[in-house]
Amino acid sequence: MGKKKLIIHDVNKSFVVNGQSVDVLKDINLEIEEGEFVVIVGHSGCGKSTLLKMIAGLEKNDTGILSVDGKEVDGPGMDRGMIFQEHRLFPWMSIEKNVQLGLKGLSKEEKRKLSDQYLELVKLSEFKKAYPSQLSGGMSQRAAIARSLVSQPEILLLDEPFGALDALTKIELQEEMLKIRERFHNTMIMVTHDIEEAVFLADRIVVMSARPGRIKDVIKVELGKYRDRGSTDFTHYKKKIFDYFFEEKTVTPEYNI
Ligand SMILES: Nc1ncnc2c1ncn2[C@@H]1O[C@H](COP(=O)(O)OP(=O)(O)O)[C@@H](O)[C@H]1O
Ligand SMILES: [Mg+2]
Repeated sequence: MGKKKLIIHDVNKSFVVNGQSVDVLKDINLEIEEGEFVVIVGHSGCGKSTLLKMIAGLEKNDTGILSVDGKEVDGPGMDRGMIFQEHRLFPWMSIEKNVQLGLKGLSKEEKRKLSDQYLELVKLSEFKKAYPSQLSGGMSQRAAIARSLVSQPEILLLDEPFGALDALTKIELQEEMLKIRERFHNTMIMVTHDIEEAVFLADRIVVMSARPGRIKDVIKVELGKYRDRGSTDFTHYKKKIFDYFFEEKTVTPEYNI
């Protein structure tokens, strides 16, 4: 067993909507080890983004405790970086300047060195002087990844980061994610709608129920480092997760995967 990086203990969360309290997350208990890649799947509205925001310190839990390295989360911190579905780059700044936003208290030269290094990592060196509007969706998302990584967060929180990309770009970026993880050993927590993406990337997959979101199951994916999307074992995991969703909708599964 590795070192515990994140502990979520008895967390509940509700929001008040039109004067009524709505339960969003119920009895969330989860421990994540340092360097682990955990992927969260669940229906839209089951509280996945809310959970990530609580880990990021952008949203407060009602009950229970979230702690990173044994320290209770109390607001955002440089140890946690977040990547969203929309890249959220500033349109009026060059890609290079956007990436440097993740850096504080360094000289211009140091900032330039680091942004160069991370832009090279995501294969955007040639575009450092370009503006976000001049980049494709996949390139913008690469820039957003570089911006998050440059401050060297120990935990990277990814909220459907490839959800808006075309299928091939998505596959390319999924492979990049594995390389990044191998190089930096960050702890990764990713939310996705894409079951194949989950099986391709995760050490463990957290399956959530519809709202209020509860953890239905945590599936350990034992498929090794590089995964063949067409293999029988891969398909087995995909089906297992699909079945959870069909079970919830109480429809007869008439599908072939
Ligand atoms: N700030 C908020 N105020 C009120 N309700 C919210 C707020 N944020 C999220 N919700 C509600 O909480 C539920 C879960 O939202 P979210 O975490 O975004 O779900 P998911 O990411 O799984 O689709 C939704 O019903 C959403 O409308
Ligand atoms: Mg969401």
